[in-house]
Amino acid sequence: MARITAGVSTSHVPAIGAALDLGKTAEPYWAPLFNGYEFSKRWMAQNTPDVVFLVYNDHATALGLDVIPTFAIGCADEYAPADEGWGPRPVPVVKGHPELAAHIAQSVIQQDFDLTLINRMDVDHGLTVPLSLMFGQPQAWPCKVIPFAVNVVQYPPPSGMRCYQLGKAIRRAIDSFDQNLNVQIWGTGGMSHQLQGPRAGLINKEFDSRFLDRIVTEPDELAKVPHIDYVREAGSEGIELVMWLIMRGALDAQVKQVHRFYHVPASNTAVGHLILENAR
Ligand code: DHB
Ligand code: FE
Repeated sequence: MARITAGVSTSHVPAIGAALDLGKTAEPYWAPLFNGYEFSKRWMAQNTPDVVFLVYNDHATALGLDVIPTFAIGCADEYAPADEGWGPRPVPVVKGHPELAAHIAQSVIQQDFDLTLINRMDVDHGLTVPLSLMFGQPQAWPCKVIPFAVNVVQYPPPSGMRCYQLGKAIRRAIDSFDQNLNVQIWGTGGMSHQLQGPRAGLINKEFDSRFLDRIVTEPDELAKVPHIDYVREAGSEGIELVMWLIMRGALDAQVKQVHRFYHVPASNTAVGHLILENAR
């Protein structure tokens, strides 16, 4: 059977991808950030999964603003890095797992969560920056990836509770897949940041720190936080954090925290990162 062995959460920022691609990771501005992922890359080398179920958000890059699915699962064979205005990032094509994706779609939709199916899509920094942070700069990504896109860009986003419950449905789906696969679930985006308006540049370390505590120890309570609290406390783009609750919902009630990292700022964003293991 397939099983979820671990969850990874990490922020994304396009400038992190640019720093990597342009060889700037040792510069004083960037070194403290990339140092926080050194442990992660070593852990990942020893715990490389067969498949990553990667919860992220597209930034009106591939999906655009014409049609906006709340939850969309990638069922394609592969996904090319998107051109976000500066040309596509020089990173490998992302290989999918259509068979597992189709099984998850079938199971989760029959559990009453309506998903959009995506059979062709490019993937933007929301997906490629977390891959780069966790795997470095390989010739090919070392595992398959199922992109799972959540609308946190155009109002209204899904609630934290909806995301948390969806994570539980995804867990049941993966547990019932009849192939021996080591699957990780990643929840990406966040932490506090606001890119627009009078509060642009907002960062809230207290909120972020409490979120990092609570997602590990009391996710049931954290899931009750309403949308407006994220926007007030963590900024308009801080709402990306609800995607972490999909990851958390898919993990055991009790998890082992093997890594926690927080750094302020990267571009306009507070960067948070966790590695959580399920019991073996
Ligand atoms: C930044 C952060 C984001 O989440 C994003 O999607 C784009 C830019 C930033 O901090 O620059
Ligand atoms: Fe973003």
